[in-house]
Amino acid sequence: MKRKGERITMVTAYDATFARLFDDAGIDVLLVGDSLGMVVQGHTSTLPVTVDEVVYHCRAVARGTRRAHIVGDMPFLSWQLSPEEALRNAGRFLSEGGAQSVKLEGGVHAAPTIERIVHAGIPVMAHVGLTPQSVHAMGGFRVQGKTEHAAERVLADAKAVANAGAYSLVLEGIPTDLAKRITEEVSIPTIGIGAGPHCDGQVLVCYDLLGLTPDLKPKFVKRYAEFFEQGVEAARRYRDEVRAGTFPSAEYSFGNVRKVEAPNSGLTLLQGTKAAYGPQG
Ligand code: KIV
Repeated sequence: MKRKGERITMVTAYDATFARLFDDAGIDVLLVGDSLGMVVQGHTSTLPVTVDEVVYHCRAVARGTRRAHIVGDMPFLSWQLSPEEALRNAGRFLSEGGAQSVKLEGGVHAAPTIERIVHAGIPVMAHVGLTPQSVHAMGGFRVQGKTEHAAERVLADAKAVANAGAYSLVLEGIPTDLAKRITEEVSIPTIGIGAGPHCDGQVLVCYDLLGLTPDLKPKFVKRYAEFFEQGVEAARRYRDEVRAGTFPSAEYSFGNVRKVEAPNSGLTLLQGTKAAYGPQG
């Protein structure tokens, strides 16, 4: 797609229903991101997320996906301790989670580990710039590469992971011109988030895209829907109708029990009205 100049679309997903929604919409890549720690689990960072948890969510996403490529995100300390442990963990996203590749946050220092995982036949998407697992080392969720010296470091990270065999690269929270330069200087596709329009693709956290995060509105997020507001409004109407006794009306009820004479037995059976419960019966 990079060679053909086609922009790549990536969105995070954490369950089968959202996976189905984005798959049906034609999104190219579903990232089971460790951002689930914040938007699903309610933590203030991604640091508490475990491999078991991401693998669990990968399985759910895989069940809802027919077409999109699925990436499992390697959480904090799942790859840093040794290349062997990194490889073992990376393998779990494919063998247990149903993902087709893994993502890990890291640049120059992650390159040998990326090489090890790639040589074992597991495609790796790298992630440089603002890397949320290093939130404390960065002094918060801050744009990276803002000075010439810092920009050179991010560029060196990008080149190192590309040379190590990463098939793609997330650029997060960096200036637009730096993202453009990296996109031009590495042969692998760059996927931006808070990195401007010149990347080969874009990624958004699905809860941001759908407007499910009412308290958070970073500059780089565009909301394409307002699901939170619509959800609150729907839940209020449901509450009001239940309280008023107008839900469920006859339309949403299964009618009354009918009396049926059992042949030759003299017994009277009570038979419920037949009604469709859907495929689950
Ligand atoms: O975990 C995540 O959702 C991510 C994206 C923001 C790229 O890493």
